[in-house]
Amino acid sequence: MKDFISALPKAELHLHIEGSFEPELMFEIAQRNQIEIPYKTIDEVKKAYQFSCLQDFLDIYYAGAGVLIHEKDFYDLAMAYYQKCYENNVIHTEIMFDPQTHTERGIAFETVINGLQKARLDAKEKWGINSLFIMSYLRHLSEESAFETLKQSLPYKDLITSVGLDSSEMGNPPTKFKNVFEASIKEGYIPVAHAGEEGPAEYIWEAIDILKVARIDHGNRCLEDENLVQEIVKKDLALTVCPLSNLELRNTDVMTKHPLKKLLDKGIKATVNSDDPAYFGGYMNANFEAVQEALKLSKEDIITLVKNSFNYSFATDDQKKSYLEKVDQIVSDF
Ligand code: ADE
Ligand code: ZN
Repeated sequence: MKDFISALPKAELHLHIEGSFEPELMFEIAQRNQIEIPYKTIDEVKKAYQFSCLQDFLDIYYAGAGVLIHEKDFYDLAMAYYQKCYENNVIHTEIMFDPQTHTERGIAFETVINGLQKARLDAKEKWGINSLFIMSYLRHLSEESAFETLKQSLPYKDLITSVGLDSSEMGNPPTKFKNVFEASIKEGYIPVAHAGEEGPAEYIWEAIDILKVARIDHGNRCLEDENLVQEIVKKDLALTVCPLSNLELRNTDVMTKHPLKKLLDKGIKATVNSDDPAYFGGYMNANFEAVQEALKLSKEDIITLVKNSFNYSFATDDQKKSYLEKVDQIVSDF
């Protein structure tokens, strides 16, 4: 199974670039930018990565992102992730970035996007990886701040495919961002949102009905509401599920109780993703392996999950066709 997972070409639809910041690179960038970080060794960093909830993690994640200053820092961060894509056979990825994590610290929007864009072009040339960008609004900040971010993004509109909503979910429901999502859709951005990771099923309803999302990030808690499950199936919305993240943030007690198989059995188009792999202990193959082993997923389940990721990506129809042919080729050769 491990070899099969690794041999399959994959798409990743839920990845925060700031969450792919490995401690080794964080030390290197902190040093060259002469920024103090509260850890002396890589081991100390790894020990700090023990989370009891989403907020616990977010505090450490934002502190880590604080060492990113220059365009090259964002370039190096993204190239390190693309290298992992190459190693994990991820041929298409849709990368979330949080502009406000940086603009709030005085880093210009253009510094962030230019670094990411240069890496995107180099990764395409070096490894043939296709990628799209999802600009995510931080939900613990105001809607006004999200509007400011939308405005800053407009000169770079052609580089950005989609808008998302992330950060502290509880107490920050999708409705808070109704107007900015409406405006983002008018600008041509495809809406997605984190919902039902920690927050209740009601937040998933809001993401669908009010933000008009094309995909739901996480969405695990939809299983608490059968009508919602039916709605997700009817609307043909995919869920970007993140098994190791769910385990590390304690949304799942043990992997054997992870809801992925239940979601598939209910007819939901679930996909597997790594979320913040530097913090949660693994990239795409590790996520597939962990959940396959714990839930005893079959080869057919794995093929379904991989095909879902391509089918529900924001790639063009031609790209999707070519990706799916590649999957079928590997399946028939294996
Ligand atoms: N930002 C980065 N990772 C996140 C997650 N899993 N949930 C919400 N916001 C995030
Ligand atoms: Zn996420």
